[in-house]
Amino acid sequence: MTEALPLDEAKARSAHEAALASARFPVSDPQIEVHASIGSTNDRAKELAAAGAPEGSMVVSLAQESGRGRRGRAWSSPSGGLYFSLLLRPDDAMLRRLPVTLLGGLAAVQTLEEHDVPATLKWPNDVHVNGRKVAGILGEMDRDEVGHRLVLGVGINVATDLSALPPEVAELATSVAAVRGGEAPPPEVLLESFLAHFFGHYGAIRRGGGATILAMASARMPLLGQPITVRLSPEKRVSGIASGLSATGGLVLEHEDGQRREVLLAGEVEEVRAK
Ligand code: BTN
Repeated sequence: MTEALPLDEAKARSAHEAALASARFPVSDPQIEVHASIGSTNDRAKELAAAGAPEGSMVVSLAQESGRGRRGRAWSSPSGGLYFSLLLRPDDAMLRRLPVTLLGGLAAVQTLEEHDVPATLKWPNDVHVNGRKVAGILGEMDRDEVGHRLVLGVGINVATDLSALPPEVAELATSVAAVRGGEAPPPEVLLESFLAHFFGHYGAIRRGGGATILAMASARMPLLGQPITVRLSPEKRVSGIASGLSATGGLVLEHEDGQRREVLLAGEVEEVRAK
């Protein structure tokens, strides 16, 4: 691609270094790649992982040709967005505490809040403003001989031309610029802010924490306390009151008969019904 990059590699590196230092999260010699356009940053991060890249490595791109979303969906990634993936190696104890994708969703909401975007978290990790999606998180995990390998992918509609999105996506989407009257912070500013929040939370989980992060996430989930319907699979839906998050980040659903409650570990909130 020939067009000038609005985010250069030096800025991405220094944003990454500053964030890791402020989060007191030491990683040794992480790899950082900045692309103007790439197939999928998650796919590239997996390639780096397979080649032995250390935890904390990062792939950033300003457009993707084959971005992927949750549940096998495409993630439309025109230029004007910020797309990046982090390579992480959480241990079993960390994974038992809280889902790393929830930390990603929380960090994205906090990043946007810091830039005057009143974002909220839709369980498990969608980021919305006024009911429209502004960012999404895709965690993909496997194992190798060393242990778990998690690629955490983040897509943020920053100055995205919403009319460049497929119409069915555009009608449910918004962007940082759209919310801020047409102007958005530079991508490296958002990237640094995200990394500082995320590695702060990730480091806290690694040190055995979790409760504070759960409280921060819950406080940003307006659906808590509301009657909702959650799709568990193409055929199965459950309805009830979303009464809170469990200690491990699951969604606690109180059935409306008042007799039963269950903890959902995955699913898609389809409907929040007015009480
Ligand atoms: C969702 O469905 O909400 C998750 C979207 C995740 C998109 C990001 S963009 C960077 C990374 N690379 C991908 O191919 N997907 C994720």
